[in-house]
Amino acid sequence: MTNILSFVSIKGGVGKTTLALETAVSLSKNFDKKVLLVDANFSAPNIGLYLDLTNDLTLHDALTGTLLHNTIYEAHGIDVVPASLYYHKEIDPFKLKQLLEKYKTRYDFIILDTSPNYEELKPIIAASDKIFLITSPDYVTLQTTLKAAKIAKQQQTPIQGIIVNKIRSPKHEYNLKEIEDISEIPVLAKIHDHKKMAKSLSTKTPITILDETNTISKEIEKLSSAICGSPEKNGWFQKLLPFKKILQKQKVNREFLRQEFYRSS
Ligand SMILES: Nc1ncnc2c1ncn2[C@@H]1O[C@H](COP(=O)(O)OP(=O)(O)OP(=O)(O)O)[C@@H](O)[C@H]1O
Ligand SMILES: [Mg+2]
Repeated sequence: MTNILSFVSIKGGVGKTTLALETAVSLSKNFDKKVLLVDANFSAPNIGLYLDLTNDLTLHDALTGTLLHNTIYEAHGIDVVPASLYYHKEIDPFKLKQLLEKYKTRYDFIILDTSPNYEELKPIIAASDKIFLITSPDYVTLQTTLKAAKIAKQQQTPIQGIIVNKIRSPKHEYNLKEIEDISEIPVLAKIHDHKKMAKSLSTKTPITILDETNTISKEIEKLSSAICGSPEKNGWFQKLLPFKKILQKQKVNREFLRQEFYRSS
């Protein structure tokens, strides 16, 4: 069954757009899935800028009567619905769910990039089947991200897990076990702050396309693999016993996601 997956946090700049885009591209490139990426950040959309899409029709038009089909563009093997930075007519964001439901049969996955605005997030979560929370490993961002978890719980939309992004200085940051203990939500992926993302942004090319050997591309590929229910290959270093205890604190928990795939398909 096709799922609508959204990447959310109430915190701005945490990596929602980056990870929604990279996961969409990885599902297509590495797992041959048909993916629709929708920019559901109604007030400050970025997907069009990330992909250099300069098209006229957007999600805002689709929410006010234009056929969604006419707002879909192709980029890096995925279908994309950008949103408009300049739209002035009133929209009803709660129509998003109905709009996307009709397209579920055409795609393996529909992925939503989202707004950090609390009120804007409500219709997005209402349209989603499953939520991925995005946080960086610091107190402020985690607490702010968990506010989004609260909306999901109120709406009874399942939270798949947390993706920890922009890991910079593990000595001064939460480890993954601490994040799981505080949130009581499994951590599905850990992504370091990587300087190559600046090149990805400036060349308007996802890192998954720009450099498939980059650590971010590799981790996104593992996350995508779990989203598809595929088994994970463990690296040799993960099998090294002396480091097992240290690694345990930074261990991701993708098995949960894999099992979830089989439960819902
Ligand atoms: N792992 C990373 N390493 C380095 N830079 C990153 C990483 N993830 C994201 N970035 C950069 O951080 C910036 C913000 O990322 P992004 O736009 O994805 O955040 P966002 O949560 O979508 O922001 P907003 O709330 O404004 O929509 C971008 O410049 C992006 O390239
Ligand atoms: Mg964004």
